[in-house]
Amino acid sequence: MRLSVIGCGYLGAVHAAAMASIGHEVVGIDVDARKISALSRGDAPFYEPGLPEILTAGLATGRLSFTTDMSQASGAKVHFIGVGTPQQKDGYAADLTYVNAAVDGLLPYLSPGDVVAGKSTVPVGTAAELSPRVAATGAALAWNPEFLREGFAVKDTIDPDRLVVGVAPGDDTSADVLREVYAPAVAKGTPFLVTDLATAELVKVAANAFLATKISFINAMAEIAEVTGADVTQLADAIGHDVRIGRRFLGAGIGFGGGCLPKDIRAFSARAEELGRGESVAFLREVDEINLRRRDRAIQLVVDGLDGSVFEKKIAVLGAAFKPYSDDIRDSPALDVAVRLHGLGANVVVTDPEAIDNARRVHPQLTYNPSRDDTIRGADAIILVTEWDEYRRDLTPDHASTLTDGRVIIDGRNGLDATAWRNAGWDYYGMGRP
Ligand code: UGA
Repeated sequence: MRLSVIGCGYLGAVHAAAMASIGHEVVGIDVDARKISALSRGDAPFYEPGLPEILTAGLATGRLSFTTDMSQASGAKVHFIGVGTPQQKDGYAADLTYVNAAVDGLLPYLSPGDVVAGKSTVPVGTAAELSPRVAATGAALAWNPEFLREGFAVKDTIDPDRLVVGVAPGDDTSADVLREVYAPAVAKGTPFLVTDLATAELVKVAANAFLATKISFINAMAEIAEVTGADVTQLADAIGHDVRIGRRFLGAGIGFGGGCLPKDIRAFSARAEELGRGESVAFLREVDEINLRRRDRAIQLVVDGLDGSVFEKKIAVLGAAFKPYSDDIRDSPALDVAVRLHGLGANVVVTDPEAIDNARRVHPQLTYNPSRDDTIRGADAIILVTEWDEYRRDLTPDHASTLTDGRVIIDGRNGLDATAWRNAGWDYYGMGRP
């Protein structure tokens, strides 16, 4: 099928390449000429495992192309909208400028029978508002939210755990068209849920709100553990054995960040207020606050570990990305901790396997070193803030002892073996662990 994908950021670029990889003819469109020329050369503008391969393969078959020219969308049967919906500069609500611009820019090139499938995360009610503009061209607007995780985006797009399609009242064709687009996943038995537009929009924000709540729940338990001597990782293991609860997303630590969870819960709160139902999701404010408090806690542990002051102490910060397998530093708890330690007068050195360039662009005041060992060398304290394998799994206390004079390690992700570090003579501090 011929498809267009408007917006070639994380979501759109992966979606375009993934759709080409399952046999569709896809044009990716974006206003950013630099991004388009990189993608056209097969260069992924961000780190995402598996993306370079499907990008190169798609370009080589001729089924995948990228352009800044919106008119190239004409002739496609389905037009995916995958532009960003960032947090507004002066408030919590989502900024819909790019969604509106994408839809308006597309209108002249739509034909009757086309489907415009929104993938961006939007406040509930957005699709119903956009729908008449699309319908006036004879095309239909559907909402098909995306649930991909950075780091697993290619797999999540080609082989998702569910597909959700919201359609306007009386639209009985768009869902079938999208079923055809996702034929390989549908053939595998992937649940395919057809809903109304509002439900589809809400599914997305509800899913992210639930995940954020789950993380903040366990981080709240970490706060209680800290004043009682309990161990939150054992607690998570124990409650996680209950299949109704489940162990995943019960990783206590410095909390969630990234381009989605933080801004999505804030936008959800803002939208609920507009709808007169602010109290229904008032707990999301608490979720946000618990999350931000964990960064304070991590900093406090460094200060305590260094006997009350980090001033002019060398602190090795392991990680800058908001999570491993990503170079994304948007709202990264790791980088926030590094910046604040720097603000306290510490001599901070940050390392990360993928995110240094992005981090340096936004925080040029910090010192970066691509080598883990050089970062650690001579440090007074180490803080692990992004659980890349090379820090969590591969860094042994014995090896670290050969590099540093200090013996203080703060495990911001509870990924290290506390006993092994302590036995090697280190002061180990976890999050919510004795
Ligand atoms: C999230 C959702 O997981 C995806 O389903 C969704 O599609 C995506 O947002 C989106 O809306 O686009 P992502 O932002 O890639 O995906 O990252 P997650 O894997 O959800 O991690 C988010 C943050 O939570 C990270 O900072 C991670 O370190 C943190 N986290 C995760 C914890 O602190 N503890 C955990 O147990 C799990």
